[in-house]
Amino acid sequence: MIVQNLYLEHFRCYEKAYFEFSPHLNLICGPNARGKTSLLEALHLLMIGRSFRTTQNRDLIKHQASYYQLQINFIKHGVEQTLRFVSSTEEKKIFLNTTALHSLSSLLGLIPGVLQTPDDISLIKGSPQKRRQFLDIQIAQTDPLYVHHLMRYKKAMQQRNQLLRLKKLAAIEVWEEEMGQSAAYLTLKRYHTIQNLQYHCKSLYPSLTAEAAHFTLKYRTQAFITDSIKHHEIKSFFLKQYQKFREREKVLGYTLYGAHKDDFQLMINDQDVRFFASEGQQRSCITTLHLAEWLNLKQTGKELPLFLIDDASLGLDKERSKRLILQFSQLGQIFLTTTDQTLFSHYLGNKKAFAL
Ligand SMILES: Nc1ncnc2c1ncn2[C@@H]1O[C@H](COP(=O)(O)OP(=O)(O)O)[C@@H](O)[C@H]1O
Ligand SMILES: [Mg+2]
Repeated sequence: MIVQNLYLEHFRCYEKAYFEFSPHLNLICGPNARGKTSLLEALHLLMIGRSFRTTQNRDLIKHQASYYQLQINFIKHGVEQTLRFVSSTEEKKIFLNTTALHSLSSLLGLIPGVLQTPDDISLIKGSPQKRRQFLDIQIAQTDPLYVHHLMRYKKAMQQRNQLLRLKKLAAIEVWEEEMGQSAAYLTLKRYHTIQNLQYHCKSLYPSLTAEAAHFTLKYRTQAFITDSIKHHEIKSFFLKQYQKFREREKVLGYTLYGAHKDDFQLMINDQDVRFFASEGQQRSCITTLHLAEWLNLKQTGKELPLFLIDDASLGLDKERSKRLILQFSQLGQIFLTTTDQTLFSHYLGNKKAFAL
């Protein structure tokens, strides 16, 4: 998977700009407020259909302008393709070659990749929602059915909550059936994804840090889950919980049990990274997790995913930065922003620098 070029028009601080990329390492360099993060934001927006910095479309449009436009040419499975976004405050249009895409879900997975930003420390320190989002974005890129179940689960839960609040339980089982079905699918997928991530993290963490540490991930789901558990067993577990807690939930007005409560924990030597690891170790855990995510995507998607890193210093010391850069030669196309280009002077592979 190679992104050949990117054209931006009225996007963030860009009036009109065009970049031709290297198929290997792309260093986006410059002092603060030059548009480095905005460039990554544009690439990531084309990958997953939404910004990692804002939910407001108008924030993306250059001040005083009425629309933005982004276009990339990329090669996938040997075929050259064009993806274009044109967006005003009112509407967003997406074109793949000459075809209009009508839903964001048809975009997911088209350009697979991983994004790491300084905000990712919230994967450790933040709420479970952050970690669920990390899993969801990753799985959604390789499994359209997962996106379907994610949306169905959310919709069915909204309906169930509404009935709980109205204290009308007569038809509630219809929605519980839908929730149970989708919750089982989401739970199994998340379980297997976490298992795969953990498998990669085991060797990645010691090679990124030189620590002889045992890195593990623990899936926190309300369902009792094992390697041999079946979809229908998880479903019937959740259905029982819905039934059991209805009366209590009627008072609260929302659902206490299900896939919307999932979380996972990062552990080093069986201790929770959130409470026991140093800042540097926590940052290394995040990088480890993203490299493992990249390997997962590569295995399921059969194309080399992109790797995007905003602010590549990532708070790592010299030795850890060096070890991270060593990993780069294992990846495909990389886009990396930095204020300090010298950090990458000893990277011997193919690279192209852009001075903003
Ligand atoms: N919608 C917008 N219109 C014009 N300028 C913007 C818009 N959004 C952000 N900016 C400005 O773009 C500049 C570049 O931001 P950013 O890409 O975050 O910079 P960097 O990552 O290089 O530090 C900032 O000065 C920011 O204020
Ligand atoms: Mg920035």
